[in-house]
Amino acid sequence: MATIVGGVGSTHVPAIGKAIAEKKHNDPYWKPFFKGFDYVHYWLARTRPDVAVVFYNDHGLNFFLDKLPTFAVGAANEYRSEDEGWGIPVSRPIPGDATLSWHLINALVADEFDVTMCQEMLIDHAVTIPMALMWPGPVWPIKIVPVEINTVQHPLPSLERCLKFGRSIGRALESYEQDLRVVVIGTGGLSHQLDGARAGFINKEFDLLCLDKIVAEPEALTRYSIHDWVKETGSQGVEFLNWMAMRGALTGRVSELNRNYHIPISNTAAATVVYENQKEVARKAA
Ligand SMILES: [Fe+2]
Repeated sequence: MATIVGGVGSTHVPAIGKAIAEKKHNDPYWKPFFKGFDYVHYWLARTRPDVAVVFYNDHGLNFFLDKLPTFAVGAANEYRSEDEGWGIPVSRPIPGDATLSWHLINALVADEFDVTMCQEMLIDHAVTIPMALMWPGPVWPIKIVPVEINTVQHPLPSLERCLKFGRSIGRALESYEQDLRVVVIGTGGLSHQLDGARAGFINKEFDLLCLDKIVAEPEALTRYSIHDWVKETGSQGVEFLNWMAMRGALTGRVSELNRNYHIPISNTAAATVVYENQKEVARKAA
């Protein structure tokens, strides 16, 4: 059976791709951010996941405002980007696991999440940057299932809906018959606003509250409406919906193994976390 080894949360700011391309890892501006991935690399080497389910939001590369699904699941054996932003080289293709994708899609629809199924799907920096940060080597040693959540065009799904969506995927992963080790990834955030009167807005206090609550008490965050969330985190801080889905997919006992919170990366509060997912073992009567 598949095992969900844990979750990783990562910011996906496009400027990170430029910093990687220009090898600025030890630049004083970037070093505190990139150092946050040392533990991620150690943990991935130890847990050796085979597949990553990546919750992310598309920024107009595959979906645009004319057609924007609330939830979409990739069902391809390869995913390509066409534009990373900043004029940097396009990322190499990432292998997919279409068989697992269809298992998740079947389970989601049976669970009343009527997802868009994508047998062709471009992925953008919201997938490629976290991948490049987590696996900086010359090949991707992992397959992915990309799962898009609309954080762009209102109405957006609620935090509660995304938590439940993630839980549905977690249950589906646990029922998958192949012996795969799975990591779930939530990308984006944390607080940031890119335009309008509050451009540059960051809310450290609220970000830290979210990072505390999401580990053991994610339900506490579901009392915030999307409009509350925009007020507290900025108009693009709603990318935290991807983190809620990632947390929902962790079905066992969850603990935070590592956290790096750094302000700012570009106009964003950058957060990198690793969550362990320990399977709950039913106690047998003595
Ligand atoms: Fe984004």
